Amino acid sequence: MNIVIINGSHRKHGATAQILNEMYQRLKQYRDVEVEMIHVADLELKYCVGCGTCYKTGECIFKDDIENLSWKIENADGIILGSPTYASNVSGQMKVIIDRGHFVMEQLLYGKYAISVTTYENYGGRDTAKILNRLLAYSGAKISGMIVSRKRFQSDLLEDARLKVKIKKVVHRFYHDIAGKRKYILQDMKHFIIFRMGIRPFVLRKGSQYDGVMKHWKRRGMI
Ligand SMILES: Cc1cc2nc3c(=O)[nH]c(=O)nc-3n(C[C@H](O)[C@H](O)[C@H](O)COP(=O)(O)O)c2cc1C
Repeated sequence: MNIVIINGSHRKHGATAQILNEMYQRLKQYRDVEVEMIHVADLELKYCVGCGTCYKTGECIFKDDIENLSWKIENADGIILGSPTYASNVSGQMKVIIDRGHFVMEQLLYGKYAISVTTYENYGGRDTAKILNRLLAYSGAKISGMIVSRKRFQSDLLEDARLKVKIKKVVHRFYHDIAGKRKYILQDMKHFIIFRMGIRPFVLRKGSQYDGVMKHWKRRGMI
């Protein structure tokens, strides 16, 4: 079982990283799990310039770290996305990954399980979680769980016993969802509607302009 964790905060030892590290340690305890933690701080990423080349060819024009990251996600069974809240949204770095990582149109997370992790200090943490969860759902993932955690000034998140229990439960469910290929009927139905009535007809209308997208779908057995 392959799991990829992405820390969308530049701070490798910040609040988001603390929760993600706790998840990493828990996942490592399962003998059949390979887990990798990726920090945005270690990636070289340019902004999306909206050229549309990836829709046509399946690949980005920039030769930075994005294709390797998408490849890792594509080959994972589960993904954990973590982001701090910046102005009631994900961090800029996480947004670059979302824009360039072939998520929605190419259905990068089709058939995968996911967890979202959001931290905040004052207000807007739920908005950030909604943004991450929508991305996961629209990209084809089944959401096993989510953590939205408020970090109080000069406090240590993991001193909160309830948070530790929640992390333990979410990771446990995530692992067993993947191992047992758990069905989430409502999520599956929602994704079916989004894909069949929204994304697929849109792409088919675009014809050869979206050959790269079709290539991804074919590889994933979606068409
Ligand atoms: C540029 C910036 C914008 C922020 N905006 C918000 C916000 O809108 N709401 C909030 O509650 N916290 C906000 N914060 C605080 C962070 O979300 C919070 O400290 C988070 O836990 C930091 O996570 P990290 O240590 O993993 O980077 C902001 C922090 C920064 C640096």
